[in-house]
Amino acid sequence: MLTSGGDAPGMNAAIRSITLYALHYGIEVIGFRHGYNGLINNEFVGLDEPLVREIIGRGGTILKSARCEEFKTVQGMQQAADNLHAHSVDGLIVIGGDGSFSGLTKFKQFYQGQTIGVPGTIDNDIDGTDHTIGFATAVDTAVNAIDKIRDTADAFERIFVVEVMGRKSGFLALNVGVACAAEHIITFENFSNPGIELQQVTEKIKRIKKQRGQCSHLIVSAENLYPGGANQLASDLSDYASIDCIPCILGYIQRGGDPVAKDRILATHMGAHAIKELLVGNSDIMIGIEGQFCKTVALSQSVEHHKGVNEYLLDIQERLQDLR
Ligand code: ADP
Ligand code: F6P
Repeated sequence: MLTSGGDAPGMNAAIRSITLYALHYGIEVIGFRHGYNGLINNEFVGLDEPLVREIIGRGGTILKSARCEEFKTVQGMQQAADNLHAHSVDGLIVIGGDGSFSGLTKFKQFYQGQTIGVPGTIDNDIDGTDHTIGFATAVDTAVNAIDKIRDTADAFERIFVVEVMGRKSGFLALNVGVACAAEHIITFENFSNPGIELQQVTEKIKRIKKQRGQCSHLIVSAENLYPGGANQLASDLSDYASIDCIPCILGYIQRGGDPVAKDRILATHMGAHAIKELLVGNSDIMIGIEGQFCKTVALSQSVEHHKGVNEYLLDIQERLQDLR
């Protein structure tokens, strides 16, 4: 197995589960280090019970993670496959995000063994699963941080724009915004263009001020949306409407920390299920969770289909924050 792309809290719990479940069935497990680089450079470690015994509650990944441009080339993929074949590796489990799964889908042309994806990303942007490993922890981390921002915002009756991660998806922004009772949430689903956004934010601030009087105001925004991000939005609000607004980019704090129980359980469930699927000969699939049960979907689905946020929740939040 290997961990690839952005690390996510709970990846270690998945490594533990995959290792122990495989060992239970007498399967030898090795872990390649530094994402796909480990496959190409033949950098791996044998995984056994003592190595994974105490990692269920640790953030990051003991196998390290990385991006790997070389894996996008024919030579890189061929080298990786040659190494796996030389070690007689029967199956490869990749814990990562949609980029990692794009690579894994293509790798089928080079590697003859079974391939299985386990979704691990704080972004929750993978189709075919209700949740990805790491999302619940990242939401909690961001909410804890923003609750603290709210305290000082309340004390000074200030306006903050807080930017959260998510790459090209708004799951973090929506869920964090709802949990923090943000006055305004900016996600890919409700953003049209900077001019309209600026106008809408300004009107909202003015309306809420009229309703509540002077008060704190939190805008939670997805990254990679407003050009120039939170800093530019704050500066534009000042120029456009003379509204003082403090930008705050939460950044990598959202990717670290001990996984919450929900992520540990999800990772344990998905990791074991990946081994179950290997044992019955399945390949080219991703493990997903639907309700309380694991399921499998074609790897191609996880890569090709876009999973949007629940716009109904966005609508509810709008109404809760906008009394007439
Ligand atoms: P994530 O898996 O978190 O979405 P990335 O999108 O950065 O992260 O992808 C992780 C790695 O997966 C890349 O650095 C690369 O090694 C591999 N990868 C991504 N896309 C492709 C692709 N189209 N072909 C081959 N490998 C890819
Ligand atoms: O995919 C996880 C993620 O943390 C995104 O939310 C973010 O945009 C990106 O990775 C950051 O990537 P990097 O670690 O390469 O800066």
